[in-house]
Parts: sequence; structure tokens; C-alpha cells
Amino acid sequence: MRTMRTILWNYEKNEVEMIDQRLLPETFLVVSYHTHQDVARAITDMVIRGAPAIGAAAAFGLALAARESRAASTRELLSDLQAAGLTLKAARPTAVNLAWAVDRLLSSTSSAESTSADELRQFLLTEAQRLADEDVEINKCMAAHGAELIADGDTIVHHCNTGALATVDWGTALGVIRTAWEQGKKIHVLVDETRPRLQGARLTAWELEQYGIPYEIISDNMSGYFMRAGKVQKVFFGADRVTANGDVANKIGTYMLALAAKDNGIPAYSVVPTSTVDLSLAHGGLIPIEERTQDEVLNIQLAGERVTPKNAKARNPAFDVTPNRLISGIVTENGVVYPPFDVNLPKFVKP
Ligand code: MRU
Repeated sequence: MRTMRTILWNYEKNEVEMIDQRLLPETFLVVSYHTHQDVARAITDMVIRGAPAIGAAAAFGLALAARESRAASTRELLSDLQAAGLTLKAARPTAVNLAWAVDRLLSSTSSAESTSADELRQFLLTEAQRLADEDVEINKCMAAHGAELIADGDTIVHHCNTGALATVDWGTALGVIRTAWEQGKKIHVLVDETRPRLQGARLTAWELEQYGIPYEIISDNMSGYFMRAGKVQKVFFGADRVTANGDVANKIGTYMLALAAKDNGIPAYSVVPTSTVDLSLAHGGLIPIEERTQDEVLNIQLAGERVTPKNAKARNPAFDVTPNRLISGIVTENGVVYPPFDVNLPKFVKP
């Protein structure tokens, strides 16, 4: 049972604690970290995952880096923090929230030249906590806007995990579904299992169990079948980066899902905090796509046996880009953005 935020700062022990998402749903384990390098490794290894959650992890990672540093002057400390920021940013490339969080914390220190190194250490922790708290508020705002798109009786296809686990708390797309459910709307969720790491089958299903929302897991290649059969009214997913023209990078498989939705006249919505919008990139072709180890694809088992030939090779891009023409709307904390996204997105994203 989830009893805490996905990530938090333990003020008694001065350490970062997070739920180890690799072990769910079988085991609920909270792990703690004392160095920014360990937090960076936790992000790479997907102990913590989901764009807003890894942004918060990077922020707390910088607060740890400030404590690790032996610097006596603010100038030395800032130099150590720049180095730690680079380590944290390199942990995963696609979700812009990671770089956004590091840059936000580092730029907040620009006015700190006159304070002592110890004051700066405290200041960074306060700023990291502020970022984490804001994430929860922002998710609730997105959920309120997005829930208006859901009608009583809807069956919704959901991809990956975008719930409380993918954020500090509440969630993006799953947060929308959760709020609509709490408003009393009868909803059924078809949960894409989300190969190869199964964030849907493991994490989204686990969350939906806790919220009491009815769901069924489907393998990723089944959603088109249910759409053509007239069983699906909406598609919801999150994003790891949205570019200025409204292209959406999200978990691998989102593109095929959005294609099938378009072909069947079913609206597909991406739910994102504006920290996931990267107006500096003109289009999705410019987004760096993480390619993970082929073992994640090859290690699938059936009845306890590995199914792939011993020498099989695999490809494992972790994300794909869904072109803006397949996106019906982008739900942000500031409201729902509709096409043309290149014109409308900048109105919703504060500089
Ligand atoms: O590889 P993951 O599990 O970090 O991928 C997560 C996703 O693709 C989510 O859909 C995305 O981060 C947005 S939801 C908060």
C-alpha cells in the first residue's frame, strides 16, 4: 500500500527517500540516498521514473550535492553544484523535466552570491522542497482541467504509468482519470501493459487497484481491436517532452496508439505540466531519444522460460514521438491547449 509520496526529503536523517519502482507491485520498498551520484544512478536504473518524478529527484539530488560539498565559500560551492547538475542531467536524456529542475535550482542561486555557503545549502533544500510541493499542486490543477474531458461511462485507454508514482504525487494522465472517478464518473480503464518494462501492467494496475477504479490490462497490440469494436471513447497519456509545435515524446508505443485513435475518430490527450514543454525545440525530431539495454526486450519469459533465442539481438528505444496532428489536446495546469499548438502552446507556458 502506498503510504508516502513517490520521493521526499527526510528532514531527520537529511537523506532522499523514494519508492523503489522496480520492485512493484510485488514489494513495496523505500530506499534512501545520501549522494547526488546515487540519485543519478537511481534515475538511470529507474528506481524512480516518470518525467516529473525524476525532475524532483534531480532537485533533491542537488540539495544532497550541496551537503556533500566541502566548499567553504559560495563560489566554490556553486562550482561543485554545476558539476553535480551535469551528472544529474546526464542520467536520462528524453524527459526535459530533469534539465528543467536542475536549471531552475541553479538559476535560483544566482542571487545567493552574498549569502554564506551554509545558507546556500539550506536555500537549495528549500527550493527543492518547493519544486516537489508545486508538482503536487500542478498535478491537481491538470487533473481538474482534464477531468472535464471525461464523460460518465467512458472507457479510456491509458499508456505507461502516469500516476502518483510518475510524479511526486497524484499524477498527470492517471491523475485526470483519478479526479474524474472521484467526481463520480463511472470509468473503465484499459491499461496498456507497456512493453518492455511493463509500467502499465505493474505500476498503473497497482495504482488503479488502490483507487478502486475498474480496469483491465491489455497487451499493447490490442488497443486497435477495442477501438474498432467501438469500445473506447478516449485515449490518455503523459509526455516526457512536448516541443513548440505540439509534437509529443512519450513512452514507446504512444505513436502507434495515437495513430489507431486517429483512424477511429477517438480523441487522444497528452497531460503535461508546463515544465515538460520545451519551447526551445521546434519539432519532435530534435528530441534526444533514450535507447536502453536490449536485455529489457530479450529477457521476456513464458512459463518461467526465456522465449528468445540465445543469440537474439534487439532494439530498445524507450520513447517515440507522436506528431501534433494526432494529438487532440494537451492538458496543462493552465488549461487545455488545442491546435494549432505552435500558436497556442506559448500562451499557456510562462517564460
Ligand atoms: O521510462 P519511464 O517509465 O520514465 O517513462 C515514463 C513515461 O513515458 C510517462 O508517460 C511520462 O513520464 C509522463 S507521465 C508523468
